[in-house]
Amino acid sequence: MQYDYKVGTILNPQAPADSFEAKQPYMDNGTAVADKRRYFSPEFMALEWDRLWTRTWLIAAVSSDLPEVGCYSVFDIGRESIIVTRTPEGVRAFYNACSHRGTRLVNDQMGNKLRFVCPFHSWRFSSQTGELLAITDEETFRPEVICERPGLTPVTCEEHAGIIFINMRDDPPPLLESIGLPEGYLEAYNIGQMKVIRHISTEWEANWKIGIEAFYETYHLHAVHPETRWVMGDVNVQYDLYPNGSSRMIVPLAQMSPRIKDQTSMNEGLEGMLLEAGVDPADYAGDATGVRLAIQQAKRKRAERLGLDYSKLVDGQLTDSWATGLFPNVQIGCHPEGVFLMRFLPHPKDPERFYYDTMTLFLPADDPNYTAPAWMGVPEGMDTSGTVRPELERFAVGEDGNLGLVLSQDSALLPIVQAGIHSRGFKGQLWGEQEQRLRHFDAELERYIREEK
Ligand code: FES
Ligand SMILES: [Fe+2]
Repeated sequence: MQYDYKVGTILNPQAPADSFEAKQPYMDNGTAVADKRRYFSPEFMALEWDRLWTRTWLIAAVSSDLPEVGCYSVFDIGRESIIVTRTPEGVRAFYNACSHRGTRLVNDQMGNKLRFVCPFHSWRFSSQTGELLAITDEETFRPEVICERPGLTPVTCEEHAGIIFINMRDDPPPLLESIGLPEGYLEAYNIGQMKVIRHISTEWEANWKIGIEAFYETYHLHAVHPETRWVMGDVNVQYDLYPNGSSRMIVPLAQMSPRIKDQTSMNEGLEGMLLEAGVDPADYAGDATGVRLAIQQAKRKRAERLGLDYSKLVDGQLTDSWATGLFPNVQIGCHPEGVFLMRFLPHPKDPERFYYDTMTLFLPADDPNYTAPAWMGVPEGMDTSGTVRPELERFAVGEDGNLGLVLSQDSALLPIVQAGIHSRGFKGQLWGEQEQRLRHFDAELERYIREEK
């Protein structure tokens, strides 16, 4: 088979050059093999903390979790903990450490408070400004100890497209420039109107980058997730690289993998997808090759009927997964019904563990037949109305996080990858062009580690 890696797959050759769908020009990140110690060395982990995590924009929360003034949410990353709060002037963030003796001030995941009271000696702080409001037994302090009225230390915080970002560095570069995606790309999905209907954090036995890398390609689908071949393209995926380490893959859904010989006979998976889009498979006269288009048309009509705004989405976005990676540790599976936001969070101490934090956000609609599509992995009977924000569910290593089949397959695989990387016989990863997002991610990471960013 002929394969021109500089072209790769273009899903819609008719897409105008300035549309979000357009294939991005090839970016050459070379062919070098990265040092494998970055996946397990404590020294490299420390470098990442100093040069990457504390210097880059990170997703700390989603806007719909802080709907009102006083709402706060805690974001834990490595050994750090950061409080994000909503104020009348917008979102603000503070380090989650009491200025008296350092105690972690807020110890629940989210809530609504205008004041934070420290659990150790009850110093009080404003959730809005971080200001120190009251010192217990103030008269017992010598004035010079407390004369600065030390409040909470602020962290730069900005909201964009329904997502809240923080940056721990003193002089962060502009957020939108760092995100690297074209203007309007994320906004098109109305994430700000979506509600978290499920939030899970599971601990995996692998380095956080092994996690990212497994989700940045579809090359492994035939081996690890063979069941996806009935409803998902895998070799015919459009990979796009954006500035500053961001990237995207468009994974065509509602069509079979090109690895399947018979492309026309219908299968259960495709029938299920028709049904979700409101098309009774018994009424569908076409063959398997027409399902993707039929679903796009049905969803467009349904959106009009339900008053959902799909105006900024092209047809491909109605069916396909636009899996969009924001450097360094996020992938957002973007769909019109909702998005699947995954964060790969480093363990505080162990380079060979990470937390896989996933939020399922759903755009509720006023129709009892309109439910979350199966790819969202929402268990049957779960509340998708968005009226109640479910608690974060945490699962330790070895516990079944009820992630669904595909993610369980990944969580079983990753420790095997991590184990093999240690072998004296393994020299470093060899990335193909279906893995160009990995190379792109790694090139950006390298710039941080070399302190060029
Ligand atoms: S450590 Fe917070 S009040 Fe003492
Ligand atoms: Fe996978």
